[in-house]
Amino acid sequence: MIITLRVNGQDHDVFVEPRRLLADVLRKDLKLPGTHLGCEHGVCGACTVLIDGLPARACITLAAQAEGSEITTIEGIGTPGDLHPVQEAFAEAHGLQCGFCTPGFVLTACELVKRSAGMSDDEVRDALAGNICRCTGYVNIVKAVRLAEREAADD
Ligand code: FES
Ligand code: FES
Repeated sequence: MIITLRVNGQDHDVFVEPRRLLADVLRKDLKLPGTHLGCEHGVCGACTVLIDGLPARACITLAAQAEGSEITTIEGIGTPGDLHPVQEAFAEAHGLQCGFCTPGFVLTACELVKRSAGMSDDEVRDALAGNICRCTGYVNIVKAVRLAEREAADD
């Protein structure tokens, strides 16, 4: 089937099997490798993208399901020379080490910081529970979210 996916503000017509996963279309067809694949069964959150502004796991989403939605990948929110404020906060708070989980965390955090102002740190941890990091630990990731949240509030 031919579907049209709107990714990072651009429409792409892609020819896919109905069972083809969004993560594979993003990474292979659209050459957007920032959507990482870890577990490939919906557990680790490495493949998180935003679909209509909400975090979604691209490894368990069919590409065809995302037609008609606004998809945002890590490539769509910042560039190495012009980081998104959430990316800056992760860098400043040392919220990453190897970086494999980071695109998923950053996109989850992009949505979270819009509603986390009244949350406790434990509630922020709960909200991040769908993303797994195997090397940084979560202390600095929570700090990064809190930093990004404060900076968003100051804007
Ligand atoms: S790769 Fe999608 S949740 Fe792990
Ligand atoms: S920074 Fe390495 S897995 Fe999270």
